[in-house]
Amino acid sequence: MKALVLAGGKGTRLRPLTHTSAKQLVPVANRPVLYYGLEAIRDAGVTQVGVIIGDTGREVREAVGDGSAFGLEITYIPQAAPLGLAHCVLIAQEFLAEDPFVMYLGDNFLVGGITDLVDAFRGSGHDAQLLLTKVAEPQFYGVAELGPSGEIVSLEEKPAHPRSDLAIVGVYIFSPAIHDAVRAIRPSARGELEITDAVTWLIDNGYSVHSHMVSGYWRDTGRLQDMLECNRIVLEDIEPRIRGTVDGASEVSGRVVVEAGASVRGSVIRGPAVIGAGARISGSYIGPYTSIGDGCVVEDAEVEYAIVCEESTVRGVSRLAYSLIGRNVEVVRAQGMPNALQLMVGDHSRVQVRA
Ligand code: TTP
Repeated sequence: MKALVLAGGKGTRLRPLTHTSAKQLVPVANRPVLYYGLEAIRDAGVTQVGVIIGDTGREVREAVGDGSAFGLEITYIPQAAPLGLAHCVLIAQEFLAEDPFVMYLGDNFLVGGITDLVDAFRGSGHDAQLLLTKVAEPQFYGVAELGPSGEIVSLEEKPAHPRSDLAIVGVYIFSPAIHDAVRAIRPSARGELEITDAVTWLIDNGYSVHSHMVSGYWRDTGRLQDMLECNRIVLEDIEPRIRGTVDGASEVSGRVVVEAGASVRGSVIRGPAVIGAGARISGSYIGPYTSIGDGCVVEDAEVEYAIVCEESTVRGVSRLAYSLIGRNVEVVRAQGMPNALQLMVGDHSRVQVRA
C-alpha cells in the first residue's frame, strides 16, 4: 500500500493567506494541517508517500523534507496546474505503479486516523473505498447516494440539489483499477478531472466501490470557520506544558502550552491555548481555543478563538476573535488623529469591524 497526498490546488477560499502560502501549511495548534495527515498515514503502516505539489511546492518541500522526520519516504510529484483530483492520480501513475493506495487530501483533517480504514480495505477485494459523513450543507461537497445495501449508486460534485446529506470525506483508497478510470474520463464543466467522475466510471464498469461512514470528527479546512474548528478540536486534547516563562503576575488556567523561549507577563491565559516558541505575551488576555504562533508579540490585547500565525503582532486591540491572522501581520491600535481605521490589507482579504 502507498499513499498519495494532495498538497497543490488553488486554495481560493482561504485567500489572501493562499496568495503567499500553501493552504495545507496553515497551522492547527501551531502545526501545519498537513502534518496530521502524514502522521495518520504513517500510523496506518504506509511509508511510501507521493506528495502532489503546485505553485506552493517549494514551501511544502521545506516543511516536509524527505519525510524522514515523520518516518516516511516522500516522493514529490509536481502538478503544472490544479487540473483536478483525478488529474493528480493521472500524473502519479509511475509512482503508484500497481499498488493499492490511500489518496489523502492534504487540507483534510480527520480525528482518529485512518488505520481502521486501511485495515478494512486490505484483503477486502474492493476496487475503491470512500469515506462518508453526514453534513448540514451537502451542496458544498462531493455527495454520495447509497443503494439499499449501502453500496454507492451515484456521486455528484457540489450538486445544486443534493440527493443525500452524505459528503465524501477527503480520504479514499483505490486499487490500480482507478488508473483506467482517470484515463477514461474527460474534464468537467469547471475544467477539472473530477475524482467523482472516475469513481462513477468504476461503478458503471462493474468494479466494487465500497463506503464507510466516518464516526469521528472530520473537516475540510478549506474555509476560515473550519480552520478555527479544527484548531479548537486539537487544542481540547492538548497536553499542558510550560516550557517558557510565566511571571507571578500572570494567571494560566486550563490546558495551556507555553513553548520554550516564550514569555508571559502580567497576562491571563485561559486554555485550551498554545503560545508558540519565542512569543511574547504581556498585559493581555488569551482566551480559549487560541493558537499564538512562534515569535508573535501580543501586548495590551485580548485574543480569543483565533489562530495567529508566526511572527505577527497584536497590540492594543480588544477583542480579536473568530480570526485567522497570517504571518508577519500587524494588528495594532492606531495612534493620534484622525480617529479612523487605518488599513493596509492584501488582495481578497476580509476585515470585519465594529464601529
Ligand atoms: P480543493 O479544496 O478541492 O481545491 P483547492 O485547493 O483549489 O481550494 P479552493 O476550492 O479553496 O480553491 O482541493 C482539495 C485538496 O487537493 C487540497 O489539498 C488541494 C489539493 N489539490 C491538488 O493538489 N491538485 C488539484 O488539482 C486540486 C483541484 C486540488
